[in-house]
Amino acid sequence: MSRNLDAIIFGASSYTGQFVIEEALEILKDFRWGIAGRNEKKLKRMLSDIEAKVKKDLSYIPIIIADVNDTSSLEIMAKQCRIVLNCCGPYNILGEPVVKACIDAGTHHVDITGEPQFIGNMLLKYNDLAKEKGVYIVYACGLESVPAELGYACEILKLERQLNKEKLPPTKPKLWLKPFPHQIETSHRYYCYFPATDKFVIERSQRYFYASQEKRPIQFQSYIGFRSVKAIFEILCLTSFWLALLWPFYVILLLILSQFTWSRKALLRSPHLFSFGLVSVEKPLESVQNTIEFAMTLKAKGRYHEVPDFIEPKKELVVRISGKNPIYGVTSNAMLICAKTILNENSKMPDNGGVLSPASAFAKTQIIEEIKRTKYGLKFDVIKT
Ligand SMILES: NC(=O)c1ccc[n+]([C@@H]2O[C@H](COP(=O)([O-])OP(=O)(O)OC[C@H]3O[C@@H](n4cnc5c(N)ncnc54)[C@H](OP(=O)(O)O)[C@@H]3O)[C@@H](O)[C@H]2O)c1
Repeated sequence: MSRNLDAIIFGASSYTGQFVIEEALEILKDFRWGIAGRNEKKLKRMLSDIEAKVKKDLSYIPIIIADVNDTSSLEIMAKQCRIVLNCCGPYNILGEPVVKACIDAGTHHVDITGEPQFIGNMLLKYNDLAKEKGVYIVYACGLESVPAELGYACEILKLERQLNKEKLPPTKPKLWLKPFPHQIETSHRYYCYFPATDKFVIERSQRYFYASQEKRPIQFQSYIGFRSVKAIFEILCLTSFWLALLWPFYVILLLILSQFTWSRKALLRSPHLFSFGLVSVEKPLESVQNTIEFAMTLKAKGRYHEVPDFIEPKKELVVRISGKNPIYGVTSNAMLICAKTILNENSKMPDNGGVLSPASAFAKTQIIEEIKRTKYGLKFDVIKT
């Protein structure tokens, strides 16, 4: 099929879109790509703001008008390229028509969703169709869940390959959730349960690897680390004991307010007021974003294949994944590298298409090396082996 573009960044006028466009200037420099959205004026303004920032003429970048509520505009957009990078969220509300248009047009699709319900729905509805069409729909290509998924695919799977050469009974002993703050050997922090989307995405990958390659599934729990027990209490109590007591009443008030159109509008118009200054409609400053660093430690435990199942797993691997500007920097770089990997290495990807998680889609590609090289690239350190 002849297509005039390799990639289109859809939802390019979003806050995330601006990072994706700016980073695409480097990451997709060998490809023909354009931007798309529903508002031409906004898209032009976005491009001229970036032009001023990077001091380059960007008038060569094509602008395509497409609206989620106009199916034919999505079809026309999808037919023009080989892959759509979809930054238009929330995906539960806006995502499906774009996925459908891409599958119909035989175009690959990556998104940066962190919404399990959207992922589940896309799997149920479009996995078979995507395979039939030879199209990759790879979800959760942002901060959620590329670092966790690639850490798993790169290092933990390697260990798993060494440890479990034969098929073993799945998931024993049970990895119970630790409900209380605890420390781990390789860190001085105190860890509390954290219900991240990563767990959902990694479990999807487990099912995929177990069903397609009979790989024994790993179990996964996610925690967030705090410097001290005092810091945990401060967060839980929002720095004040009295606020902590009022918290349930505040949640009930928000639930009531979200039931009526007029109060919903007020909540959306003035989040600052209703959250006592915690949430605002202001866009986060890039200079502030660049001061934020993140680190994720993946601690894996397993046993050699000859060790019987009833013996406690002893072999350990600890991998630390870190980076800066996680929400927009890492997300934009990860999304672009996922798209570039589909364009360059789809012969190393499984099943000739499907709705896939990053680990199941990219386990055999060079994505880790690619992602390490980008401006907001991830650093992978093996701490214990
Ligand atoms: N995985 C991660 O770690 C991660 C990190 C960052 C963001 N995200 C996700 O990325 C998504 C975007 O976030 P954001 O904060 O950048 O969003 P945002 O600034 O609110 O932008 C939303 C975008 O959707 C577009 N849009 C809305 N309705 C549309 C329609 N009917 N047709 C076409 N376009 C439409 C908007 O276009 P207009 O400009 O024309 O209104 C805008 O470009 C969210 O789902 C967010 O959760 C994920």
